[in-house]
Amino acid sequence: MQIVRSSEELALARAELAGSLALVPTMGALHAGHMALVEEAKRRTANVAASIFVNPAQFGEGEDFGRYPRREGEDVRMLEDAGCDLLWAPSVADIYPGGFSTKVSVAAVSERWEGEARPGHFDGVATVVAKLLLSVHPDVALFGEKDFQQLAVIRRMVRDLNIPVEIVGVPTVREADGLALSSRNAYLSPDERRRAVALPNALKAAREVILGGSSVSAALQQAKQSLVDAGFLRIDYLSLVDAGSLEPLDAAGGEMRLIAAAVIGTTRLIDNLPVEIRG
Ligand code: PAJ
Repeated sequence: MQIVRSSEELALARAELAGSLALVPTMGALHAGHMALVEEAKRRTANVAASIFVNPAQFGEGEDFGRYPRREGEDVRMLEDAGCDLLWAPSVADIYPGGFSTKVSVAAVSERWEGEARPGHFDGVATVVAKLLLSVHPDVALFGEKDFQQLAVIRRMVRDLNIPVEIVGVPTVREADGLALSSRNAYLSPDERRRAVALPNALKAAREVILGGSSVSAALQQAKQSLVDAGFLRIDYLSLVDAGSLEPLDAAGGEMRLIAAAVIGTTRLIDNLPVEIRG
């Protein structure tokens, strides 16, 4: 695997790749969720590139930019074992050189949920992902459904700006007990880790209640109560939304997603599940 650090080195390495290319953008601290994106990329294109960049622009004030886990040595080994061809690990100065003034802002789909809880977050994500896509110009870029709203924001941006890339969403990889893999799970104490499984369990229970025909608001209320009972300190949202627009739904119908964000201890976790009416 070739490792490049600057945009100049990247351009040279990119020019030497023959055949199709997939990009897996990450912030590092890689786990099996990230590796599922790399594996899906390997199935789709001749070459696979990954990027590791802890993007300051998508962290709010008082968020975990400073303590976000950084372990490049281990990340490099995992990417090499998975058969990744190229790693771009730029510095902040390479991505945001002095005078950098551009912001990509995707309205509507980025406004609620994570957008409301983390003002400016999706501007930071959209700006850096636009820059990564335009620098690497891959044929395919892969993103996890784990960050479901992020995936919707990126699809919208790519469509709106005619960025010539196919965006592929990959289903969430989970621990044996159902907790979605996340670099932020490393922040959980053993006790918090045991109780964190209440989040996917609440979403699964709400899905069953909704598919059973009960009222959506009753299902969501029950699910929120189960998070409180498990010791979650704050629930930013737990909602049923239209899977395309991310607008909230008060009755089941169409393509739906249950989405949630909640805080246990000092750690904010997000998760989501598809909801499909059977038959
Ligand atoms: P990061 O949190 O490192 O995630 C990188 C990619 O891995 C994202 O597309 C994310 O959705 C996916 N991912 C994370 N956990 C996953 C899981 N359990 N199952 C499947 N996929 C999972 O998301 C970001 O970085 C950044 O916002 C980024 C897109 C790189 C822009 O800075």
